Amino acid sequence: MSGPLLEAAGLGKTFGGGALTRRSPVVALRDFELGFADDEARIVALAGQSGSGKTTAAQLVLGFAHPTTGEVRYRGRSLRALGRNERREFRREVQAVLQDPYGAFNPFYRVRHVFDVAARNFGVADATRAVADAFAFVGLDASRFLDRFPHELSGGERQRLMIARALLLRPKLIVADEPVSMIDASLRASILDIIIRLNKDEGISFLYITHDLSTAYHIADDLVVLFEGETVERGPARTVIDSPQHPYTRTLVESVPDPDVRWTRAPAAVE
Ligand SMILES: Nc1ncnc2c1ncn2[C@@H]1O[C@H](COP(=O)(O)OP(=O)(O)OP(=O)(O)O)[C@@H](O)[C@H]1O
Ligand SMILES: [Mg+2]
Repeated sequence: MSGPLLEAAGLGKTFGGGALTRRSPVVALRDFELGFADDEARIVALAGQSGSGKTTAAQLVLGFAHPTTGEVRYRGRSLRALGRNERREFRREVQAVLQDPYGAFNPFYRVRHVFDVAARNFGVADATRAVADAFAFVGLDASRFLDRFPHELSGGERQRLMIARALLLRPKLIVADEPVSMIDASLRASILDIIIRLNKDEGISFLYITHDLSTAYHIADDLVVLFEGETVERGPARTVIDSPQHPYTRTLVESVPDPDVRWTRAPAAVE
């Protein structure tokens, strides 16, 4: 297979509105375009208010839902056309950190099980060591967490464990849907720092979904702004935020609290 790591072309999703339902259709996403090269790790932020289509875009890009229009291509091949081995490689290279970490862990299994299954399915070499390294990267001690059940973790710990699980498989791209939504400001800075390190040091690209433009400003190379499923603006993150062209982007930028400090605070280092 050849071609960019991942591309979305003319991607659209309409919910409902079939012959058997009386509900009118909801166009959640329209003409969405996205691209990640294989040889250049970038952080692309996808921003927009609640309901603008961000999670829908993530689900389509990850192949968790089928598009109504357009297609997603992995290394030049439509996701629909991937064979068994290609799909497995896609599943390894493109990892998800989902918006709802409560839904992502099976409540009946200990954390260890989640990591064991991932390591076994994808043939991770020296799994014990790899798991410990992945935990260390997100600032957690594996021995303290592996035997716990998901409900014995805080929301922030769960989000960090999802990032650790994604890391275990050495992905090329992580689709992170509001990965810092459940954690407090100090920890948020350290997660953003982890994302930056993974990008710069490990060469991992991110589709970083957020409705918080100040974090996009700090960590993203590019910014795509969605409004009611439409892409209203895209470009280098700082350019878009410093001089927004579309009225909706202007509203988003103006709604960031505390204008004096909003762009100046750099993420803190991880302890
Ligand atoms: N399964 C579904 N059936 C019907 N409508 C849906 C479904 N999933 C999403 N939608 C609708 O599609 C639109 C986009 O939803 P989406 O979850 O992508 O928004 P979002 O930008 O991720 O919002 P948030 O910031 O709240 O997470 C919304 O109007 C939502 O109500
Ligand atoms: Mg969402």
